[in-house]
Amino acid sequence: MPGKILVIGSSNTDLVVKTEEFPEPGETVLGQTFLMNPGGKGANQAVAASRLGADVRFVAKLGKDVFGKEALLGFEKENLDTKYILETPDFPSGVASIIVNGHGENQIIVASGANMDLQPSELPDTIFQDVELVLIQLEIPIETIAYIIEKCRELNLKIVLNPAPAQKLDDNLLKGIYLITPNETETKILTGILPENEETLKQSALYFREKGIENVIITLGKQGVYLSNDQYTQIVPAEEVIAIDTTAAGDVFNGAIVSALSEGKDWIDACQFACKASGISVTRMGAQSSAPYQHEIK
Ligand code: RIB
Repeated sequence: MPGKILVIGSSNTDLVVKTEEFPEPGETVLGQTFLMNPGGKGANQAVAASRLGADVRFVAKLGKDVFGKEALLGFEKENLDTKYILETPDFPSGVASIIVNGHGENQIIVASGANMDLQPSELPDTIFQDVELVLIQLEIPIETIAYIIEKCRELNLKIVLNPAPAQKLDDNLLKGIYLITPNETETKILTGILPENEETLKQSALYFREKGIENVIITLGKQGVYLSNDQYTQIVPAEEVIAIDTTAAGDVFNGAIVSALSEGKDWIDACQFACKASGISVTRMGAQSSAPYQHEIK
């Protein structure tokens, strides 16, 4: 029986406009479809893991508004344990404004609202009960991230850090992390090294490992991922797909990798499984709406 995964992070409502080209500053372009979808890196990762069979507890802070209510209903439908979801009347629920262009690339602006009001004092010790692995991202306050990492060290829980959106992090936050999953941009911001070939991938992975991180997976978009730990130093390639919308591809990867690891899959199998899941997600529009179910991977 796979252990429980605790995801602590953001929940947003994504307001998405599809267009051929991104507008230049000051330009108006006529776009195509508009979609309103559940999103937020934390929620996307929690939903992706749950759809792939993981037992997921999700902790987030919502505003007391329509978006918050809808998000909570969505989490319940996705079989997430929502017992510790918080609500505040002081801030609106998180919203993301997203433009997707004809190549499936996106531009995202997040109005964090309640997400940035998630305080360490609001996280009771009981959220960690029966948990095997904790997955976090950087769309909640950094003090809360620091608190969660400290708590996991104390309780000897594995932490998976998806350092998105990118920001510089203190070395003492990185020490003892079980797995870090940056993309190329995040790797450059965190390490100062642009991972553009095998040599620079190796150097940046080594940077993380020397900071005390056990396992490193650098996601490389359509090329797959670079895996570095005591056992492996290699690229795990992804299958080729036609991308419609790459929004949340990284989130689906993270949800899938924790789901695979909690099932006891080997690192290579887990990477292949997660690449497949995120590959499927980019062939569909939206964030949570694009996350595949277990039977689709097979
Ligand atoms: O990673 C994609 C997500 O980033 C979107 O769902 C958006 O809400 C932002 O959090």
